[in-house]
Amino acid sequence: MVKLTAVLGDITTIKCDAIVNAANTSLLGGGGVDGAIHRAAGPKLLEECRTLNGCETGKAKITKGYNLPAEYVIHTPGPIWHGGSHHEEALLVSSYKSCIELAKAHGCYHIAFPSISTGVYRFPLDKASEIAVKTILQCCKESSQPFTIEMVCFNENVKNYYDAAIRKYVTV
Ligand code: AR6
Repeated sequence: MVKLTAVLGDITTIKCDAIVNAANTSLLGGGGVDGAIHRAAGPKLLEECRTLNGCETGKAKITKGYNLPAEYVIHTPGPIWHGGSHHEEALLVSSYKSCIELAKAHGCYHIAFPSISTGVYRFPLDKASEIAVKTILQCCKESSQPFTIEMVCFNENVKNYYDAAIRKYVTV
């Protein structure tokens, strides 16, 4: 079971069990949402990330949230878009799936996701939003404990895509 919504805002302000970071494979910070999360969490986040030895594309690793209102941060390097013939779609599915599995293993059922791979990594928003919504619904449908998942959209354009995907795939 899952309650899935798209909200407009800054993921670093969301109080929930875990926020997801659209990271890179080094897990040592960067720009975009990754930079914002590291700034808001404080330097202890980078200290913990240094102990993780990076993360493969499509996989996920978890840290504490430090100064963030969220208890945990789940870091996933999404795929870089290279035109679509380099397993980008499967890797993006894998990022969402890995995050939800890791969240569940840590008892996190209220999760906030950014729009993974659709910034610097250039994954087309129409495809990425559909993959995100379909994968989240698929991963949560058999859970006896209900999930609350927020897709945190940084601007109206991003939110329009996630709203459309939710209208298309969520049955009430
Ligand atoms: N809250 C929510 N969404 C945000 C925020 C925020 N504070 N800031 C940006 N976004 P990107 P990627 C949105 O580029 O494409 C980093 O350097 C942004 O508008 O952050 O997966 C990493 O270290 C866009 O919709 O992530 C990697 O090197 C979405 O978050 C690389 O970028 C994702 O954009 C990852 O690229």
